[in-house]
Amino acid sequence: MRKRILTVLCACALLSGLWAQSPWFDDKDLTLTGVYYYPEHWDESQWERDFKKMHELGFEFTHFAEFAWAQLEPEEGKYDFAWLDRAVALAAKYDLKVIMCTSTATPPVWLSRKYPEILIKQEDGTVLDHGARQHASFASPKYRELAYRMIEKLAQHYGNDSRIVGWQLDNEPAVQHDYNPKAEVAFRDYLRRKYNDDIQALNKAWGTAFWSEVYASFDEITLPKTAQMFMNHHQILDYRRFAAGQTNEFLNEQCLLIKKYAKNQWVTTNYIPNYEEGHIGGSPDLDFQSYTRYMVYGDNEGIGRRGYRVGNPLRIALANDFFRPIQGTYGVMELQPGQVNWGSINPQPLPGAVRLWMWSVFAGGSDFICTYRFRQPLYGTEQYHYGIVGTDGVTVTPGGYEYAQFMKEIKELRGKVSAREDKPADYLARRTAILFNHENSWSISRQKQNHTWDTFGHIEKYYRTLKSFGAPVDFIGEDKDLTDYPVVIAPAYQMADQELVNRWMEYVKQGGNLVLTCRTAQKDRYGRLPETSFGAMINELTGNEMEFYDLLLPEEPGKVVMDGKTYTWNTWGEILKPGKDCRVWATYTDEFYEGKPAITTRQLGKGTITYMGVDSTDGTLEKDLLKKLYAQLDIPVMDLPYGVTMEYRNGMGIVLNYGDKPYTFTLPEGAKVLIGETIIPTAGVLVFKSK
Ligand code: GAL
Repeated sequence: MRKRILTVLCACALLSGLWAQSPWFDDKDLTLTGVYYYPEHWDESQWERDFKKMHELGFEFTHFAEFAWAQLEPEEGKYDFAWLDRAVALAAKYDLKVIMCTSTATPPVWLSRKYPEILIKQEDGTVLDHGARQHASFASPKYRELAYRMIEKLAQHYGNDSRIVGWQLDNEPAVQHDYNPKAEVAFRDYLRRKYNDDIQALNKAWGTAFWSEVYASFDEITLPKTAQMFMNHHQILDYRRFAAGQTNEFLNEQCLLIKKYAKNQWVTTNYIPNYEEGHIGGSPDLDFQSYTRYMVYGDNEGIGRRGYRVGNPLRIALANDFFRPIQGTYGVMELQPGQVNWGSINPQPLPGAVRLWMWSVFAGGSDFICTYRFRQPLYGTEQYHYGIVGTDGVTVTPGGYEYAQFMKEIKELRGKVSAREDKPADYLARRTAILFNHENSWSISRQKQNHTWDTFGHIEKYYRTLKSFGAPVDFIGEDKDLTDYPVVIAPAYQMADQELVNRWMEYVKQGGNLVLTCRTAQKDRYGRLPETSFGAMINELTGNEMEFYDLLLPEEPGKVVMDGKTYTWNTWGEILKPGKDCRVWATYTDEFYEGKPAITTRQLGKGTITYMGVDSTDGTLEKDLLKKLYAQLDIPVMDLPYGVTMEYRNGMGIVLNYGDKPYTFTLPEGAKVLIGETIIPTAGVLVFKSK
């Protein structure tokens, strides 16, 4: 029966999605590849030579004006776009489209001097200054006014220009923890709106009866201070919502302004994949989300002795799986072409690694890749940053050649492969969603109860397992339809409400398979504990009650046994009291709760609900649990070693080896190799046609 449901599910997904086209990109292009260029850094006599070189190497677009506000508006209200017009025209001569940027990350000096109130103030009182970047406060009305005036001029000028394909807002816009007085005013306004001007409602939400924290008016509220470690965490929760909202609003307002003039150009920005700040995807008018990713910067997150030259095997995959589901497509705005200048150590990437990263971006379903940057700068903060060409402006770097190779490979594949969503049924059958809300980790981080607990590390244990299964994974928010996925995992989903629990229940009853993990649904959306037995919000769903939870010293881990195999844990363990129809899959084998359940599962309606009450030390329990579950559901999984990933798009399988040894891949029946070989070397890529 389950098998039949899965087949139907897969067939529907296949038919509906197969020919889905993004309005901005042509699936037949597979991916477009481009490169940053800062015309203002170079003698104009060199521009043409540089664009010609870009074109010869295979680039199809370039990227302008990211930090050029001082050149675009040299004096307040006086704009100069003539130099940029010449650069756009020359780029077009060499078939290079342009991504235009809003340059708000670098306000000109006249702005900071004439209106110093726009500068960010840190908690210790330090006011940031001109001479670097990202020193202006998104909460400053003056800064927004001047930024919008400049952007509107730029959009009027370029919004109808077919040589410009799209826009990037700001640069790596982050959540600012800014103590500028305007930020405090904006925080109060946010709270007034949220609590309908009712200070008692805020007092209730924040539990201010505790420690005499009660407020008589909104004017008494200030920005929470990180220096006070016991600051009211309900207040911090609202503050973080507000702070993320400031960035989102600033980007969204920029976007709407551009869209007044730009009818056929997309708008995005280039987020750093900081999953926990909560702003990514929060500006609803952006056409899609893009990210920046640097892989080699000194920390050895890779595999083996030279892993630091290749990078973390899932760093790009996770960003793909996080950004793509937000709006169905994504681009990568910055990918390093060689050494960076800002790492703890800045090593050379392993030969092949730059190309490996490009294929990793592509494998996740992206529409474009842009590299940072074309020329190595001769002056300024980033002098030691590699480019596609070196300091002489003409010699192609090793990474530059790897770009050229990738672009050649993509161009050769164009016209030979099928539509984006052409993916094999067994791959689609493994499709899994990880339900994610940054607010859970905000809340947990204030009350970890065990300093060795790591919320994102907990989530990654499931993610890593799914990638070893060769499963397509989507990180999704609560706005998404769960029924698109045969399996949904909600890890450590601490904050919930009845509406969400009802949705989970409905999903399961209708045939979905839900995995909830420890710390889930323990608090309401204000971060308060409901007045019920602890964790009871999901009892009806899981069939369990929780007796209590325990936390252990890392040097004295506890043990859990599942199917005769023992696992260790220490960060969080819930001792469960299962209902009659729950099957116990794992039990604790020591402490005073020896023999009591740690994992339960049960059938509910047409689906299943599995509750994983413990966080294991090394992720092996999570892996074996998912293996057991997928086997029961008849979902076929692979067993790829850590370091090897596999994805499908456009009827092609893409296998990537981040490991320190060659990996031999067994091709599916009837598959034909397009690029590489089935023995994949370190940093190697195998691309095959799936049938
Ligand atoms: C990025 C940033 C770029 C550039 C780059 C250098 O984080 O967005 O502007 O500074 O780092 O690697």
